[in-house]
Parts: sequence; structure tokens; C-alpha cells
Amino acid sequence: MINADLERLKTIVTARRTTKADRMSGQKIPEAWIRQLLLLADAAPTHGRTEPWRFVVYEGAALEAFCARHAEMYWEHTPEDRRQDVKCQKLRKLFQTASHLIIVSMRRTPDSKIPRKEEYAATAAAIQNILLGSQALGLAAIWSTGGMAYHEAMKRYLGLGTDDEVCGMLYLGFPKDAPLALERRIPLEEKTVWNR
Ligand SMILES: Cc1cc2nc3c(=O)[nH]c(=O)nc-3n(C[C@H](O)[C@H](O)[C@H](O)COP(=O)(O)O)c2cc1C
Repeated sequence: MINADLERLKTIVTARRTTKADRMSGQKIPEAWIRQLLLLADAAPTHGRTEPWRFVVYEGAALEAFCARHAEMYWEHTPEDRRQDVKCQKLRKLFQTASHLIIVSMRRTPDSKIPRKEEYAATAAAIQNILLGSQALGLAAIWSTGGMAYHEAMKRYLGLGTDDEVCGMLYLGFPKDAPLALERRIPLEEKTVWNR
């Protein structure tokens, strides 16, 4: 062991797994926990201190209404030959299993010298903080870009500016199943070059 804090952090980071929203139990997360997760997100690194991350939180009746609207958007904006009723119903029902949805978007800083990709990267770091905090609390979470996450209709619904973008829809809840172990397809050695 190098250091006890690192060991704890490593346990959280490596145990974090994606859980699909329909594999969550329906149990509600206390609002205080969600506030703690948002505090973690707000501590992400940010080049030029632009703090580009923005959060929209849905729970309870608002989450149910969002899921219904999300399913409608999917139906309205997916070409008839690609529409799947099963997928539409799945989106509509996610409020039954997920406790909260946090939509995380990047607000592009006007006239910024900071490259767009760096504001996206900072927002992604904020998302990872939420995922790791969720893991520490024993919650189930998924960073989803499925459904209508990237569609213009979603941007309009959320009132985002033309230069802003949705980075992730984070469904949070309690896990129904035992967690899986970390699995990587490419060995770390193949992804690393050491120069000594
Ligand atoms: C930018 C991004 C978008 C993702 N979007 C989806 C998604 O739309 N649906 C999904 O099932 N998983 C999504 N994931 C989760 C990945 O599927 C997941 O991280 C991957 O399978 C590895 O599993 P793990 O998170 O348990 O390590 C996304 C992950 C990232 C980083």
C-alpha cells in the first residue's frame, strides 16, 4: 500500500461500473446526496476558470414528465423506418427504476480563448466526479448519450444556446444487481509509452 487515501480512491475508481437505468431498483436517493454529488462535479478542473458545466436535475413527477417528453421527442424525430416502439416505451418508463436524472451540458463561454474541446473536457471531468461520488455512496449510475441526448430538439427543450451541448444524461438510482468487475479489452501496457 502506497497510501491509505490512494487505496480508498482506487477502490472507488475501479469498482465504478455503469448500470443501465432499467436495472435500478426504484428506491429514491435522498436529495442531500444529490447535492453532494453536484458539489463534487463543481470541483472539476477548468481551464481559464470558465466552469462550463451546467446541471438540470429531475426527480419525482418532473422525472416522470421528462421521460414522457423524451419518449415523444424520440418518436417525433426518428424516421419511421428506424423507430422502435420498444425503445420508446423504455425511455418513457425509466422514471420507474431511476431515482434522479441529471442532464449535464456544456455552456460555451462566449468569445473564449479556451478551445471548445477543453470546455467539453472540463464538463466530462465534472461528470466523472458525479460517477465516482455515486460509487462512493453505493449508488448505481449511467452516463448516457443515448435517446435524444444529442438532438437539436433536446437542446431546444433544455433552452441551450447554439454553441452549448448536452454532454451526458446521468441516470442515478440504487443498484438491483451485484456489481460486475472491471474489464478492459486493451492491456494498459499497450496504451502506455514509458520514457526513462
Ligand atoms: C461519453 C460516454 C457516453 C456513453 N453513453 C452511453 C449510452 O448512451 N448508453 C450506454 O449504455 N452506456 C453509455 N456509456 C457507458 C459505457 O457504455 C460504459 O462506460 C462502458 O461500457 C464501460 O463500462 P463501465 O462504465 O462499467 O466501465 C457512455 C460512456 C461515455 C464515456
